[in-house]
Amino acid sequence: MIKAQNIVKVFSPNIKVLDDVSLEIEYGDFVSIIGASGSGKSTLLSILGGIDRPTSGKVFLDGAEISAMEEKELAKLRRTKIGFVFQFFNLAPYLTVYENIMLPIILDGKQTKAYAEKAEKLMDYLGITAQRDKLPSTLSGGEQQRAAIARGLIFDPKVIFLDEPTGNLDSKTGRETMELLAKINAELGTTIVQVTHSMQNASYGNRIIEIKDGRISGGSPEAAKSAETEKENNEITDGKTEE
Ligand SMILES: Nc1ncnc2c1ncn2[C@@H]1O[C@H](COP(=O)(O)OP(=O)(O)OP(=O)(O)O)[C@@H](O)[C@H]1O
Ligand SMILES: [Mg+2]
Repeated sequence: MIKAQNIVKVFSPNIKVLDDVSLEIEYGDFVSIIGASGSGKSTLLSILGGIDRPTSGKVFLDGAEISAMEEKELAKLRRTKIGFVFQFFNLAPYLTVYENIMLPIILDGKQTKAYAEKAEKLMDYLGITAQRDKLPSTLSGGEQQRAAIARGLIFDPKVIFLDEPTGNLDSKTGRETMELLAKINAELGTTIVQVTHSMQNASYGNRIIEIKDGRISGGSPEAAKSAETEKENNEITDGKTEE
């Protein structure tokens, strides 16, 4: 579970982008962060994913305070427990799709052999097996996006963060990417946190968090709790008693 407590982010000289943001994300959630351009969506995503640090406030992943971790420990956590997919995919241009997917393994000093089967399975799952030995520049935007998602999933992270995953795709490919994310969320159980401009993309998730004037105007822990209570009540009325 991810928990952000009273996150404040101030950029110099004196721009307060995030102003006391608190939220909780449960495993299995598919969360969409929305808000106007410049509202701080990417900043919040980077802070939740341990790429950037808050000016004040705390971020916890599985109870461990990542906002207080040393850079080395944090880098390891980012490589192994978190998947990150950037708007421009950030694939290494001189590496093939397969090598790009293996990059986190190599950076972590692990044996690629042990992950070879996993990589093949992911390429198959994401429909990019035919692109295996190609360079990113020779791929379509959608294929590059899927290669970046495969790389994000190689370590079986519990959570994957995506910044505008469809920002550089046409609407059809964008829709396919959203459907793919919904499938990953449902079938692999991966928690998904995406930033998006589009309400339509946001609707693929089970939760929307809106940032406005540096604050959250939806999806607060209180709101999440009341939604949870409502869900539980419905389950009780449904007579469901299983675990
Ligand atoms: N490293 C930085 N130094 C100074 N200001 C920054 C920095 N990064 C972001 N900002 C400022 O913080 C604000 C929020 O930026 P952020 O990138 O989080 O917005 P966003 O909601 O992701 O916008 P977009 O939808 O356009 O991607 C902007 O005003 C931006 O100029
Ligand atoms: Mg952004």
